[in-house]
Amino acid sequence: MLSVCVCVSGGGTNLQAIMDAMDEGRITNAQLVRVISNNKSAYALERARAKGIDAVAVSPKDYDSRELFNEAFLRCVEEARPDLIVLAGFLVVIPPEMIQRYEGRIINIHPSLIPSFCGKGYYGLRVHEAALERGVKVTGATVHFVDEGTDTGPILLQKAVDVLPNDTPTTLQRRVMEQAEWVILPQAIHMIANGQVPDLYRKDRIPE
Ligand code: GAR
Repeated sequence: MLSVCVCVSGGGTNLQAIMDAMDEGRITNAQLVRVISNNKSAYALERARAKGIDAVAVSPKDYDSRELFNEAFLRCVEEARPDLIVLAGFLVVIPPEMIQRYEGRIINIHPSLIPSFCGKGYYGLRVHEAALERGVKVTGATVHFVDEGTDTGPILLQKAVDVLPNDTPTTLQRRVMEQAEWVILPQAIHMIANGQVPDLYRKDRIPE
């Protein structure tokens, strides 16, 4: 059984999609051991608690420095002893020590087809604003392993979504969530939990 820790910052619709997929048997061999948010008032925490899942806030505001916050965050992750860490709308830079310790065991959902509209500054609605500004006709979402860069790790799954003529950033965001994010994030967890991820996809196994 794969123990999964999910990190969230906001509404938690991706977390909800994971919990629903577990209930409905679309994710097997996996259990949610902890949900962590950097934001005490994140609705995602309520979603987790409503399911009886351990949900904890670790806020940078409660620490005098970034280093102290990073230490507390890493401790909170380690207490849960996860096999896999899922960043589901987590808007905090992952400390390098954590990336090293959990290499190949952290995945992130990003709301575009990487390498488009990704990297520093591209998160949430901003990604969809940029896609509309550029005038792309197709966008989508990506699940990738997390490495030291921003959205640079090996890609595990992607799904394309059409951009429609009258889209606003909000309508596009919703369609990308419904048609892509809520599909491929649970699918990625199921694949990992069931040994369906070729070693090739792990950064530490990719030849230089
Ligand atoms: C999602 O669209 C996710 O892809 C995005 O934040 C949203 C969180 O929504 N993540 C990023 O932009 C990361 N760069 P949710 O809290 O409802 O799951």
